[in-house]
Amino acid sequence: MKMKNKRMPFIAFEGLDGSGLTTQASRLRDWLSSKGYEVYLTKEPTDGLIGSLIRGVLRKELVIDAETLALLFAADRMLHTKNIIKLLDEGVIVITDRYRLSSYAFQSIEVDLDWLKKINEKALTPDLTFIIDTPPLICMRRIQKQRFHVELYEELEKLEKIHAIYRKLAEEESNTFLIDGNRPVEAVSSDIFDRVKESALLEGLE
Ligand SMILES: Nc1ncnc2c1ncn2[C@@H]1O[C@H](COP(=O)(O)OP(=O)(O)O)[C@@H](O)[C@H]1O
Ligand SMILES: [Mg+2]
Repeated sequence: MKMKNKRMPFIAFEGLDGSGLTTQASRLRDWLSSKGYEVYLTKEPTDGLIGSLIRGVLRKELVIDAETLALLFAADRMLHTKNIIKLLDEGVIVITDRYRLSSYAFQSIEVDLDWLKKINEKALTPDLTFIIDTPPLICMRRIQKQRFHVELYEELEKLEKIHAIYRKLAEEESNTFLIDGNRPVEAVSSDIFDRVKESALLEGLE
């Protein structure tokens, strides 16, 4: 299904690691595909050159200061934005697993939020953002089942702070919905699908 001469919706998923972002982003992709839409699922950091550099920093293989890391995220996002716009204009719905709010939430602990907003101001604002709200302790438990190494942002105290910032952003940012992620996968998805239907961005979603 395609809407002629119209830029398709751009949808972002945000939240802590382990909150269910990848699970929910893929479920939304599958659901929209089943309705006949062409959907592209992407993520940040990207798989590009700058994204790979960022992953190295998150894995603590590379040490840089917080401001430089913030600029790397913004640069990765700028490249990402150009690709996203191209796809949207070609009639493809784009869903991203993390976007601008990740920079605000994770990095404003160490870096001034207004400056973060400034360096990210040219990034395309999503038509819908879902913040999956899952308690930090639950996120950590889910992650520990999956992974052995602990990434940079995974200490509980820090996660509590980031969680609180996400909740605040849910109130401040436009078209942004806080979704209770501490429920069965299907219940979380069902909320998200309802929000997409209510947004009236797409036709034929019953
Ligand atoms: N609603 C849920 N309830 C219980 N476990 C979940 C739920 N959503 C995801 N998980 C599990 O938690 C882990 C992390 O999920 P994932 O979607 O990869 O999170 P993220 O991408 O946010 O890090 C996975 O093992 C996944 O199967
Ligand atoms: Mg993930």
